[in-house]
Amino acid sequence: MADAAFEGRTLVKVFGELRAVGGITVAVQRGEIYGLVGPSGAGKTTLIRMLCGLTTPTSGEARLLGHLMPKERRAVEDRFGYMPQERAVYRDLSVGENLLFFGRIYGMSRPAVARRTRELLTLMRLADRAKQLSAHLSGGEKQRLSLACTLIHEPDALLLDEPTIGLDPALRLEFWDHFRTLAATGRTLLVSTHYVHEAERCGRVGLVQRGRLAAEGAPPDLKAWASTASGGPVSDMEDVFLILCRSEGGLR
Ligand SMILES: Nc1ncnc2c1ncn2[C@@H]1O[C@H](COP(=O)(O)OP(=O)(O)OP(=O)(O)O)[C@@H](O)[C@H]1O
Ligand SMILES: [Mg+2]
Repeated sequence: MADAAFEGRTLVKVFGELRAVGGITVAVQRGEIYGLVGPSGAGKTTLIRMLCGLTTPTSGEARLLGHLMPKERRAVEDRFGYMPQERAVYRDLSVGENLLFFGRIYGMSRPAVARRTRELLTLMRLADRAKQLSAHLSGGEKQRLSLACTLIHEPDALLLDEPTIGLDPALRLEFWDHFRTLAATGRTLLVSTHYVHEAERCGRVGLVQRGRLAAEGAPPDLKAWASTASGGPVSDMEDVFLILCRSEGGLR
């Protein structure tokens, strides 16, 4: 899979007695939006963290833009962006200072950060908040800032762990518009979500259940599988998800 932006081969992660990820093989092609859905505790965050080298797999192989993770992480450090589930925004820095901080981490020059900051503040509708302390932002504003920090260095590959959680429906749509624009310009996105209907907006979706990729495919294919599994028509991703949770074997 030379062209895969993210690739996991039989990835396993064990925490003590717990097999959080139990052998996942997945490949996300460049330019793709790949959604990860699954119940809480299924292993989505652990998988994402292995794919970007933040957690070392117990066994198996993780590659990001062709580089082995975490061993060769430095080689791609400035080419990917990770938006963690627990938002990484510094509360005691202003909006602008947060962007400067992340930009400098990625080795950007001050003029480059300033240019990118102007672009991102406009895109995220935070232009009038540049000097505001992040601690005083609303939840949705903090999330917009967190996404802006993830995008500051114009990464090719994005791993977004529940980027839309807690957002109002209009803002969620706005985030998905940004994701689509990013994919249209050649970026690859791996997006986890609990809002199952958001999976409709992904090219492909992986359904993670008890540390395994129980099903994977384009939304229409998953609906066709769920229709067969349930013996009736399924037109909603939420129903696909529920049918999968009830079925033992899944698609694989
Ligand atoms: N560092 C850790 N040490 C011990 N257990 C962990 C650790 N990280 C995750 N786990 C456990 O591994 C399992 C999978 O967790 P993970 O965060 O990957 O799930 P998730 O699918 O992202 O869930 P959610 O949808 O709630 O975010 C959980 O049972 C969790 O408690
Ligand atoms: Mg998670």
